[in-house]
Parts: sequence; structure tokens; C-alpha cells
Amino acid sequence: MVKNIAVIRGDGIGPEIVEQALKVLDKVAELYGHTFHYTDVDMGGCAIDKYGDPLPASELEKCLASDSVLLGAVGGNKWNDVPGPMRPEKGLLRLRAGMGVYSNNRPAKIWHQLADASPLKKEIVEKGIDFIIVRELIGGIYFGEHKTEGDVATDVLKYSEAEIERIGRIGFETARKRSKRLCSVEKSNVLDSSRLWKKVMHRLAEEYPDVELSDMLVDNCAMQIVKNPAQFDVVVTENMFGDILSDEASMITGSIGMIPSSSLGATTCGLYEPIHGSAPDIAGMDVANPIGTILSAAMMLRFSFDMPREAQAIENAVSAYLDAGYRTADIMSEEMTQVGCSACGALIIKHLKGE
Ligand code: IPM
Ligand code: MG
Repeated sequence: MVKNIAVIRGDGIGPEIVEQALKVLDKVAELYGHTFHYTDVDMGGCAIDKYGDPLPASELEKCLASDSVLLGAVGGNKWNDVPGPMRPEKGLLRLRAGMGVYSNNRPAKIWHQLADASPLKKEIVEKGIDFIIVRELIGGIYFGEHKTEGDVATDVLKYSEAEIERIGRIGFETARKRSKRLCSVEKSNVLDSSRLWKKVMHRLAEEYPDVELSDMLVDNCAMQIVKNPAQFDVVVTENMFGDILSDEASMITGSIGMIPSSSLGATTCGLYEPIHGSAPDIAGMDVANPIGTILSAAMMLRFSFDMPREAQAIENAVSAYLDAGYRTADIMSEEMTQVGCSACGALIIKHLKGE
């Protein structure tokens, strides 16, 4: 197959981690007889420097014209004083909204090789950590009105039934393919938008009688993720709660550097990115962990290009790399071999097998 991939290297460690993912994709193309064309897209701080805009219309167009988008990371201290609407992160938010990718899938799965890297007690980790956070991505407080007037700042949190329903359906469908348990997370003891969220979820539940729906308040969920993560299978939640909980969930698996994500809307053109940030403190030092981006590329193959074998081959290669004892600094432990970002990519390619 021939696929066109829009590539956003972004800022900080973005370029170096994306480079490794592209090398892995090239190897997949060679082994499985595909052709991947890459189109470079400027977004984030680098686009501010170049065009004075974190996502110029021409760059968004390139993404919309592609079969899918692979993104490293954007942002950094350099642009901290840029006004809100022109911040690097705003480019990312405009990209997500422009692509209409309302459903963000963030797996929290522990690799057995990394059980020791989890900050949780062994007996908790041993019960298993393997759940998915389905995060609403283009609504809520991120996209409500933001304003500062004098010494008062306001951010509006708004959800419509239709917005809740479409992400709710993804939650139920995802649960249906797994253990058939869905946990809806909100703050309905305080927020109107959460009460609406809960009402819509329960209305939808009638259409999915095979899925068991439970409700959890977000503060309790934050606690349960560290107390007993094995209880979760699929969690569905609104934009900001999903942002916060997915960082927490990633950390209990060992490192945020390992976690990929997919974002999809009404079409198969998706946005694939690791869930971590641009880590400016280690940028250009060849020490970052590229696995979150490499696994995001695998998700692209599985969810947007219908290439499950190729996706599995990448995941197997990551597993074989870990089995062989290689670790980047973020997950380094005794008796392992420490490698840098580019060596990590090269070793994963070495373990990549065709059929
Ligand atoms: C994420 C990030 C982004 C978010 C930032 C960079 C805008 O934290 O993808 O989780 O908050 O969505
Ligand atoms: Mg985040």
C-alpha cells in the first residue's frame, strides 16, 4: 500500500524521537512491501519562529490532505511569554480541532520487562495494569472561552449532549472489544457538565446491554489508579480529566516515555503522538526515549491503515528490544544496558521481523 504521512517533528526532543519512528516505518515498508511518503509540517514553537503562528493554515491543510499525521512534541520555555492564542500548544489544539479528532485513546499497559520501573508496590503491579483511557479531545474547558480581565481570569467548561454522546459511544465500543466493563469518570457532585455527562452515559448504556457501566468521581479515580489499577479496563472521560489521569496512568507503567496515543474522528485520518511533552531540558542530547512515538506509529498502522500485522511486528520488536536488556535513561535500572535515543531506534529496527 502507498500512504501519505504528514510528519510534525515539533520542538524539544520532537525531532529526534520522530526520526526514530520514521526509521522504523521505513523498515516496515521494506519488509512488508509498502511505500510511505512523508510530508514535513511545521507546528508549535518552530512554526512561531518561522511564520509567527503555531499552525499556519497551509500547514493544517497538509495534515488534512494526508492519510494520517505523526507528531513528536511541541512547546518549550522559549515560548513561555508568548500570548495565549499564539502559544505552541495552541497549534496542537487547533490541529486536533481542525482534524476533528474527538476521540483520544491512551493505553496504560505495563510491559512485563518494566515491572520494576513502576513506582507502585510489587504486589499491586503483579495484579496487572492494562487499561485504556478514552479521552474527549476537542471540547470542554480546553475549547471554551478563555479571557483575562484585570485581575480576573475565566475559562469556560461546556459540553453538549451530542459531544458527550459521540465520545461515550467510542467508550462503549472500546469496552465491547475488551472486557466489557466501562468506567465513566466525572465530577457530578460539583459540575453541571459532569451531571450531563453522567446522564448521557446512562442513556447510552441502554443501547449497550452487554457492557457494564460504572461511574467514578475523578478525584476518587486519581486515587484508585494508584491503589488498585487492575480494576480498570476502559475509562471514558472529558478532556481535562483525561489529560491529568493519563499522565498519572502512564507513570505507574514505568515511564511516560513509553506511552503512545491515537486520536480519531469521523474518518480514518488520525493523529498519532506520544503523550509526553517536548522535554526541552534533554533536547538534542540523544537521551530521550523514542518508544512512545514508535508505538504511536504502530497505532497508525493498526487504526488508520488497517495493517495489524505490521503494527504487531513493531510491538514485538519493542518487546524483543526490552527482553535484550536495553533501556533509555528514563527506565534504566541495574544490570541493563543504557542506550540513547538513536541507538534505541536502531536496536528496535534490528529486532523488527517480516513474516
Ligand atoms: C497532552 C498534552 C497537551 C494537552 C498539551 C501539550 C496541550 O499535555 O497531549 O496530554 O493538554 O492535551
Ligand atoms: Mg497531557
